[in-house]
Amino acid sequence: MKDELLAALRRSGDYVSGQELCETFGVSRTAVWKAVEQLKKEGYEIEAVRNRGYRLLSSEVFGEREIAGRLSTVWLGRSLEYFEEIGSTNVQANLRAEAGGEQGLLVVADHQTAGRGRRGRSWGSPAGCNLYFSILLRPQIPPERAPMLTLLMAVAVNRALEKAGAGRLKAGAGRGKKSEHPASSLGIKWPNDIVIDGRKVCGILTEMSAEQDYIRHVVIGTGINIGKQTFPADAADHAIYLEEVVETPSRVQILSDVCGEFEGLYEQFLKAGDLRFLQEEYNRDLVSMDKEVRVLDPKGEYTGISRGINEIGELLVERPGGAVEPVYAGEVSVRGIYGYV
Ligand code: BTN
Repeated sequence: MKDELLAALRRSGDYVSGQELCETFGVSRTAVWKAVEQLKKEGYEIEAVRNRGYRLLSSEVFGEREIAGRLSTVWLGRSLEYFEEIGSTNVQANLRAEAGGEQGLLVVADHQTAGRGRRGRSWGSPAGCNLYFSILLRPQIPPERAPMLTLLMAVAVNRALEKAGAGRLKAGAGRGKKSEHPASSLGIKWPNDIVIDGRKVCGILTEMSAEQDYIRHVVIGTGINIGKQTFPADAADHAIYLEEVVETPSRVQILSDVCGEFEGLYEQFLKAGDLRFLQEEYNRDLVSMDKEVRVLDPKGEYTGISRGINEIGELLVERPGGAVEPVYAGEVSVRGIYGYV
């Protein structure tokens, strides 16, 4: 109801009478008033004028106070740095780590001027519409286990976006006839992209500083496309923002949900030592599960059927002869047979 009310105010751009809102949502005036009050607490400015109704003055405020106030974590993000503009939250978190920063530091920015992607690519980071954040960790695990942390973050984001409603495509959303299919198209593209409708909505970049047998620190950086934006021509085909499928997503809420999910998963992972506890969920949400994939191995490309991850996060690919090959994330990319997913 709160989200629908916000959407109605956004659509109108003007005053909407309390009576009209009551009739639209089939609720009492008190219920409308309560929903408005909740939205105000979340940072939306909504004006209420007698005999005219409610009008949305400004969208959700995204800043340190709002983020800190919404986090429900125990240790993650209790140390928080927020920047309106920064080069890269990963670079900042790495600097803090080298200066002795503590595990759980959360660095968030509204705008990155030098956002970093995987494989030396850049990550487009316009202001005012997306999430860019990095988490500093000091796990006491062997360095070769660090890539599994990225998979934890993929699951955390996947859960948070599902909670935000990405699983339920809104009427008329997406391309072609998607609105006729209520089922979710949200999922994970191994190892760590989150996709909606076959297009990338989130990327994760994990960086580690380690000795041969000891991790000094790990920084997990996550970028999630949330609000309306125009992607560069070379990304437009395989990128999506959440608002294409979810009405009025809240950046603050999604960030808080991702952090909450990640904190729980990280603790479970440290106890378990591997990903066995998460394999079933990961493989359920893996978009390539039991589908044909192309493995772009520098030693030679091949195709096979994706059979999901094993307990250490490698993707198992069944070759035509029946042999099952574990694919390690660092070395290769895996694509769908007809494109990105
Ligand atoms: C990818 O290439 O898929 C990974 C993209 C990771 C982008 C995020 S945005 C926050 C953090 N800071 C960065 O500079 N990169 C990561």
